[in-house]
Formats: sequence, structure tokens, C-alpha cells
Amino acid sequence: MNPETAASPARLFFALWLPPEIARTLHRQAGGIVGKSGGRLMREESLHVTLAFLGEVPEARLPALQAIAADLELPRVPVRLDRLGFWKHNHIVWAGCSETAPELSALAGGLQRALLPAGFLDAERAVTPHVTLLRKAAHPGELPVLPAQEWTAGEFVLARSWRTERGSAYEPVARWPLR
Ligand code: 2AM
Repeated sequence: MNPETAASPARLFFALWLPPEIARTLHRQAGGIVGKSGGRLMREESLHVTLAFLGEVPEARLPALQAIAADLELPRVPVRLDRLGFWKHNHIVWAGCSETAPELSALAGGLQRALLPAGFLDAERAVTPHVTLLRKAAHPGELPVLPAQEWTAGEFVLARSWRTERGSAYEPVARWPLR
């Protein structure tokens, strides 16, 4: 655990972490865009697809949270990131899917439905799977074509985020297999 976060309530989310080669490719793509858009490049090792965002969770509730994740029996998920985009409302440049695999929606939905009764979420939210590559970006103009980045996710992670002088940082804290 990062020492900066040890005393504070954890800001947590479930996610698929990117395989290192795909993270490298996307980070390189983002590096080619930042000259046009400005903004802050996400660190290569922190790139992920969020499945469920929990917000602040008291340390004492972590065992219950981990027990829910460990009990889930969910299948492996094919992920295909094949487009880059920009959202005006939150100023992010992202990589996403032209078509979301039903298994990916089922994973996010299954996870969220398991978290609801324990009070870790207040509602199930549809997920638009994406990887945030740049934050605080301006409109980048036309974005390059993204050669499809595909993998089969064999695990999901619980991760925490914390604020640093250079923006948010993210770190997986526990992992569970998809079967
Ligand atoms: P974003 O990348 O689209 O901003 C850690 O902060 C992760 O949780 C990020 O991937 C972030 O998505 C997501 N996240 C942060 N706040 C959120 C919120 N209120 N609802 C849903 N997802 C959120």
C-alpha cells in the first residue's frame, strides 16, 4: 500500500488492468495526441477499464468487500479496444470499444449487483468501457485510427486511487481470477 494513503479512507474501484504491451501501445498513442490537446498523460502502468466505482470505503469494510469479490464466479472476458475518442464533458481522451462484448457488460453488471445489497454501491450503473489516456485535455481535433488492441481478461482487480501533486494515481490492491 502506498504510505501516502495508509491513514486516509480508501477511494476504491474495480477494474480490468491492461496487459503491459497494450498499455505501452496506448500510452504511446496518447503521447502523440498530447501535443494537440494538452492535458495530463495517464501513467502507462495505471491504465485500466473501470467496472464499478465505489468511492471512499472505510478500511474496516475492506474484508467484506474482498469476500464479495472472492465469491464471484464470472467468466473470462474478451476486450477489444479499437477506437480513440474525446469527451467534452470531462475533458478526457480515451480508448474504447466500437462494440462492447456481452461478457464485459455481464462482468460489470454481475459485480455491481453483488455489491449493491452490501451497500457498496447505491445503484447499478451502465458502464461505457474505456481507458482514460489523457485528462484535462482540450479538443484534440481528428484522432488517429487505433489498431485494435485485443486480449482476454483472466482477472479483475480492486484498485485504489489517491491524489498526488501531479493528479490522481492508481494502484491495484487485490486480484481475483475470471474462470
Ligand atoms: P474515468 O477514467 O472515466 O474518469 C478511478 O478514478 C477510476 O474510476 C477512473 O477510471 C474513473 O473513470 C472512475 N471514476 C471516478 N469517479 C467516478 C464516478 N463518480 N463514477 C464512475 N466512475 C468513476
